[in-house]
Amino acid sequence: MLLRNLSKRFMAYAKPSSEWKAPVRVVLTGANGNIGYAMAFRIASGDMLGPDQPVILHLLDLPNAQQGLVGLNMELNDCAFPLLHNVVTTDDYATAFSDVDFALLVGSKPRGPGMERADLLKDNGKIFIGQGKALNDYASRNCKTLVVGNPANTNCMILQSHCPGIPKENFCAMTRLDHDRGLSQLADYFNVNTTQLSDICIWGNHSPSMYPDVSFLKVNGEHVTSKIDTDWRVNNFTPRVQNRGAEIIANRKLSSAASAGNAAIAHTRDWHLGTNGEWTSFSVLSQGEYGISPGLIFSYPVVVDSNGNWEIVQGLEISAASREMIRKTENELIGERETVEHLLG
Ligand code: NAD
Ligand code: LMR
Repeated sequence: MLLRNLSKRFMAYAKPSSEWKAPVRVVLTGANGNIGYAMAFRIASGDMLGPDQPVILHLLDLPNAQQGLVGLNMELNDCAFPLLHNVVTTDDYATAFSDVDFALLVGSKPRGPGMERADLLKDNGKIFIGQGKALNDYASRNCKTLVVGNPANTNCMILQSHCPGIPKENFCAMTRLDHDRGLSQLADYFNVNTTQLSDICIWGNHSPSMYPDVSFLKVNGEHVTSKIDTDWRVNNFTPRVQNRGAEIIANRKLSSAASAGNAAIAHTRDWHLGTNGEWTSFSVLSQGEYGISPGLIFSYPVVVDSNGNWEIVQGLEISAASREMIRKTENELIGERETVEHLLG
């Protein structure tokens, strides 16, 4: 596919082509699945990397999903996205991961009703060995990788352990959906827009043990934690964020897809363009920050600078009650690490 002319219909999505940067390559795994379908169009439209960033989209899925990828590619073409420079569809890791600058690792089994995400480790964990090696062999040395496939934190740990050629800080697992679920509930509680809220974070694992922490929450820049009813926080807010994925599966009979895709787009956009001083939640490799066992992929509050470098928010005073919640989710991740020790590189 040739570089597309800027179509007037899509002026809202893209800057004039004279202002565009050189194209970057983005691999999306599981592209024929529910989340993949929700994400591909938004990556191609510029929602993820900005209105001046052309993309070459690498769509990876299993051999039996290739026909579906042909159809997806046709639909992408039919959108005439100005920023979509080219599309590659494949089931081959060398093709999929070659020279990619961003890797969005979605492809893996979702859970069904009654399952925990950790029940997926047996089937999904091994996928991340091969994909870690492929990133190591073929991807750009600056590639930023986000793991969405569950259980995302431990899958990311497996992946990173097989990819020594790319810096450790270039690997994240996704807890942005949990972060945004928390924001949405708090906006309702305070009857404000989500943009008026700041300084919330998710600690730990993308699982029911995660700790959505409102100890530092601000509305319009003012601390409001003392205004949050303890009973609502403990019995409503916290379990609802922790169990939202299961609540959605119970209703949809399928796991979250568009909201998960939105969170992956938002995570990557913030990682690429920065958070302008705002906190977000990234699951990243612990180096012992806040006393967490080194080597776990653990969700922390982070800020990202305009060069795309993240940093864990330092120096927070953690209460005894919060510490207990953080310890619980850390212990779960330590248990998952023991289960997959034989899969680590
Ligand atoms: P889906 O079943 O609709 O799609 C998964 C796709 O992955 C399928 O097309 C399948 O063929 C493909 N696939 C499987 N193994 C693959 C491999 N080795 N390489 C490439 N592709 C492969 O599932 P979905 O709803 O899109 O969910 C995908 C994953 O995302 C699940 O593990 C789900 O639990 C997880 N998820 C995570 C979050 C989060 O917040 N971290 C949120 C929602 C869903
Ligand atoms: C979610 O949180 O919606 C996803 O992790 C899907 C799931 O299994 O709950």
